[in-house]
Amino acid sequence: MRVTMIGSGYVGLVSGACFADFGHEVICVDKDERKIEALKRGEIPIYEPGLDVLVNGNRFAGRLSFTTDLAEAVKGAETVFIAVGTPTRRGDGHADLSYVYAAAEEIAKSLTGYAVIVTKSTVPVGTADEVEAIIRRAAPNADFSVASNPEFLREGAAIDDFKRPDRVVVGVEDDRAREIMRQLYRPLNLNETPILFTNRRTAELTKYAANAFLATKITFINEMADLCEKTGANVQDVARGIGLDRRIGSKFLHAGPGYGGSCFPKDTLALVQTARQFEAPTRIVEAVVEVNAARKKRMVDKIAAACGGSVKGKTIAVLGLTFKPETDDMRDAPSLEIVPGLIGLGAKVQAHDPQGMKEAKHLLPASVTYCGTPYDAAAQADAVVIITEWNEYRALDIDKLSRTMKDKVMIDLRNIYRPEDMAEAGFSYTSIGR
Ligand SMILES: NC(=O)c1ccc[n+]([C@@H]2O[C@H](COP(=O)([O-])OP(=O)(O)OC[C@H]3O[C@@H](n4cnc5c(N)ncnc54)[C@H](O)[C@@H]3O)[C@@H](O)[C@H]2O)c1
Repeated sequence: MRVTMIGSGYVGLVSGACFADFGHEVICVDKDERKIEALKRGEIPIYEPGLDVLVNGNRFAGRLSFTTDLAEAVKGAETVFIAVGTPTRRGDGHADLSYVYAAAEEIAKSLTGYAVIVTKSTVPVGTADEVEAIIRRAAPNADFSVASNPEFLREGAAIDDFKRPDRVVVGVEDDRAREIMRQLYRPLNLNETPILFTNRRTAELTKYAANAFLATKITFINEMADLCEKTGANVQDVARGIGLDRRIGSKFLHAGPGYGGSCFPKDTLALVQTARQFEAPTRIVEAVVEVNAARKKRMVDKIAAACGGSVKGKTIAVLGLTFKPETDDMRDAPSLEIVPGLIGLGAKVQAHDPQGMKEAKHLLPASVTYCGTPYDAAAQADAVVIITEWNEYRALDIDKLSRTMKDKVMIDLRNIYRPEDMAEAGFSYTSIGR
């Protein structure tokens, strides 16, 4: 099947490469010329494990190509995916749909035969209806359907999530679109992936409901962690104790500095706004948004308290800047609150991240020193703060780390070390909820 993917970012590039790997003929489009030129040379503009091999394998096999020419790419396609960004709109928290609508306008001008236009971007309820109206207005005689197919992949495990998803959700309003979408995902029949066909509005809302639920789970355990700290309980045991109950499940019960990333913050905000607009407020999600934002800020005070009440004039080694491991994505990462917060209180920050430093340099204060290894970051530091649980921080040589530190203080915002081990190593150790 001929598939056109508009937007070649985290979702468009992974989805396009995976569809090509399923055997479809895929053209990925982006308006960012540098990104497309890099992809044509075989360079991958983002860090995602395994993506280079997948993209280049399919490129050499002739199933995957890249262009900036949307009109040319849409000609003759049977499915045209919209996978552009839907960031938070400035000022009001709604999703900014301008990229989605601009893509719809451009598609309308280029349609030749029948095609299914599929919104893969995370978009509020009713967006597919609007996409249909835009195309109908611009091309009254065009033969097309509009479907909604939200994406649930996680950065860092994106390829596996796309190829072996828990489920695929497809919203359609007609049989032609349903049949094409069924054919497109047929390769997933092999591993018996459930494909849930529903209407477009339900598919759109399902995506927001999923993200809001997961963000709520994280926020719930974070609040339990605060309560554990006050009461002498251990949040990791609480999480295990409730997570083993299959009605609850153990995933997303890791207490930490608050959720970040390219999806949960903006999607919870957008859901709150949609719910208000339809006069069905989601008070639980409103609380989650508020509690999470406050938590990220509070981490700065927690670090200062662990440093004896103040970080003024102190050197803090920060390990991990991305919002989670195995990605270079810095969008809404907790580090974007914590690092400027520490610098605002007079600290000097020496940072390390295995993949995120390039992007971080555009987003963090210019005074941050970036280091080649975690040990370099810890040199002459008064304290080390772990913000992201990269694998390489899980087995640090603690003796080597502390050898050049001024003071043996560690604030572990991901609970990757055991308090008793750190005490034995002579550290003043602070973690979350234990
Ligand atoms: N990143 C994730 O983990 C994830 C997971 C599930 C869903 N989503 C959703 O998928 C959507 C895309 O997210 P992303 O992280 O891939 O964004 P991204 O910013 O990485 O990529 C979007 C790309 O679209 C391009 N673009 C914008 N307008 C265009 C146009 N008219 N024509 C061609 N290209 C255009 C941009 O240049 C950019 O490269 C969002 O709605 C997001 O919420 C993201």
